[in-house]
Parts: sequence; structure tokens; C-alpha cells
Amino acid sequence: MFDYRSDDLHCEDVPLARIAAEVGTPTYVYSLADLRAAYRAYDRALAAVPHVVCYAIKANDTLAVIRAFAREGSGFDIVSGGELARALRAGADPQRIVFAGVGKQVDEMEAALRAGILMFNVESPAELEALAAVAGRLGMRAPIAIRVNPDVDPRTHPYISTGMKKSKFGVAIDAALELYAKAATLPALEIVGVDCHIGSQLTSISPFVDAWARVRVLVGDLRARGHRIRYVDLGGGLGIAYGDETPPTHAAYGRAIADAAGDLDVTVLVEPGRSLVGNAGALLARVVYLKAGAAKRFVVVDAAMNDLIRPSLYEAFHDIRPVKRAAGGDAHPVDVVGPICESGDFLAQDRPLPPVAAGDLLAVMSAGAYGFVMASNYNARPRPASVLVDGARFDVVRARETIDDLMRGETIPASLE
Ligand code: LLP
Repeated sequence: MFDYRSDDLHCEDVPLARIAAEVGTPTYVYSLADLRAAYRAYDRALAAVPHVVCYAIKANDTLAVIRAFAREGSGFDIVSGGELARALRAGADPQRIVFAGVGKQVDEMEAALRAGILMFNVESPAELEALAAVAGRLGMRAPIAIRVNPDVDPRTHPYISTGMKKSKFGVAIDAALELYAKAATLPALEIVGVDCHIGSQLTSISPFVDAWARVRVLVGDLRARGHRIRYVDLGGGLGIAYGDETPPTHAAYGRAIADAAGDLDVTVLVEPGRSLVGNAGALLARVVYLKAGAAKRFVVVDAAMNDLIRPSLYEAFHDIRPVKRAAGGDAHPVDVVGPICESGDFLAQDRPLPPVAAGDLLAVMSAGAYGFVMASNYNARPRPASVLVDGARFDVVRARETIDDLMRGETIPASLE
């Protein structure tokens, strides 16, 4: 809930200028009301089918964010032992956790088995064998789904397209029956479901519909061969509006799911990340300098590609709003850039912005997903603070890193003394 009241941009009832004054910049700001509303929209849209909404922690792994969803009854999609630990620390129900990823390692499998997660989404024959070995050694049975690749083009950025033939993820849907047959021979594995994922930031429903139709056929084939399928994991969530995109509605998504799986007598799992957190967050930054280059005008801010890499990495668009709405003046195209020593360090290029001055605050919108989680310490920059707003109160839920944090764990060897 980010909107202007008078001319001041607020998150819920808190002026962003107050957060900047008390916490400094750059700072990620999240709206608890938006997180809850986004979760409830999914839950409502899926009301017609037994379901678990498994928040994809990769989008934003802040403990307070995970806790907010856990309180709503959410499940979780994890891709590493680190995410498992975060989920458990934040109070997630292990029985509602699914574990995806092409490179799960023995210690991660072991931790997830001991935690008692809902299922492993297995991505290759080699992983299947490794998991059977780990579970066997522990005297446990690992609940599994095989992640199948329906070979559907999600029509999104190539880096975030996951379900096509050339993708490293999942196994070809045509090879799935054979792998399920193999899994059935391994006593340390228990087949419980089917999983697929085709990509992220989808702005049309039809690739989902095509993929889910293939998964539906597969469920029938598996049952005909005697496999018990209780869970169907249909993958990531909806795209969001960063600018003028019009992603499908939750209702349309829910209807497509009900059509694909409503009569299958399964619990449907979905793994939305971006759409649960993306528009619930903004990155607050302060203008350091204005600079008129020979060919361009630059607004140099104190946030950079190390804090929010999406514009640099995917040429992604993030709306940028002045925290104090300008009284007047024409918008001029500027590049909003950070202090990092790379020409690729920008938050926006050729973006019409109303006049700003050094010291002004800007909010980089839609930064709740794949923002802080992809931040780095490049150029020895401490990572930003994170704040959670709830009505008129706010809490720092992650402290700004310190210079000491940057050097933690490093030593200079004796030979260099
Ligand atoms: N499940 C799996 C197996 C995934 O690979 C992903 C995202 C999700 C769920 C969550 O999908 P979502 O609902 O967020 O679309 N860093 C990129 C996005 C990478 C997404 C990768 N997988 C970005 O900033 O756009």
C-alpha cells in the first residue's frame, strides 16, 4: 500500500520520509497489509480445490516476511538448505514445505528429511538415486514428485523461463513415466505427486493452461500404471505489473487450475513468489548528486545495482517515484544511477522524471521480489536495511550491514604478516 497523502509518499500510514530519516537509505520497505492481501487473493482464488499456497521463499527470504505468510497458513517452496533453515526459524510448518532445485546436496536432503517436509521435487535421475541413498541411510522414506518439463514457451525473459526443452530444470515430460517406474523400485522413496514449473513473470494465462493440460494427462498415465498421486504442484505464480503490464487476474488463474485439476482428487500446490511480495515492497534511496553528462543527465543515488540488480541484469523496468511529489516542472529523461564502477549500474535509463535535487528521496517501486535477495556486497557496499510497515508502525526487520559485517570471517594469513 504505497500512495501519496497530500504530496508525501506513504507506505500504509507511515511517510517514507520518516523511515529515511530514522533508518537511513538505501532501505527496503515492505507493507504487511500488502503481503497479507496478496496471500489472501491466492487463497481465495483456489478456494474451489484443496490447495496449499507454497510461497517461493527465493523471492524474498526476510524472516519477518516468511513469518507473515506462515501466520496466514502458507506453505513454502524452498531451493536450498539455507531457505529451509530460514523457513523453520520463521515458524513455517515443515509439512507444508516443498523442495525444488537441480543441485540438491546430501546435507540439504538430510536436513529436509529430518525436518519432515511435504515433498522433494526431483529434477534428474541422478538426484533420484542420491535422495534414495540418503533416505535409506537414515532409515526414512523420502516423499517425492518428479519435476516435469512440459516444453511450453512461457513468453517471458529467457533467464526466467524454466520449462522448455533446452532448460536445465526438470525432466522431459516424455521421460517421466520411466523415471517414476524407477522411483517405484526404490523402497526409500515414496511417490506422492507431480511437479512442473514453466517460468516466472508470466503475463498471459495460456502457457499455464497448456502446461497444466500436459500435467493432467501425465497424472492419468501415472495412475493407470498404479502410482499414487496425491499432490499436483503447478509451479510459480502470476506476473505482476511493474509498469503497464496487465497480468492475468487471480480469478482467471484459479479457474484455470480448477479446470486442470479440480476433478483429479488431488491437493493442488502452487509456488508463487513475485506476486506475493513484488508490489508489497519499495527500495528507498536518496539523491546524492545531479550530473549533466555530455549526452545524458544523470541522477546519482545512494542505491545501486548491488542493492537491486534487476534493471542491470534483465533490463527490468521499475517505476521510480519522488517521495515528495514535485510542485511542478516538466519531466525530463534522466538515467538514475548508483555509485558502482560499472556502466551497467543503473536503476532506470532515459526515464522521464520531474525535477529532483540532491538530498531528495526516491522510491524504486515493485522491489519486494528478487530485490534484497539478489543484493551483493560488490564495491564493498553494506547491504541495505529492511523495514516492515504495519499500519502506523514500522520495524527494522533487518539491520543495515556494517563495515565490520563486510569483513566478517576474513583473516590475513601469517605468511603476510
Ligand atoms: N517455483 C520455482 C521452481 C521457481 O523456479 C520459481 C522462480 C518460483 C517457484 C517462483 O516464481 P514466481 O511466482 O516468483 O514467478 N530473479 C528473477 C526471477 C527468477 C525466478 C526463478 N524461479 C527476477 O528478478 O525476475
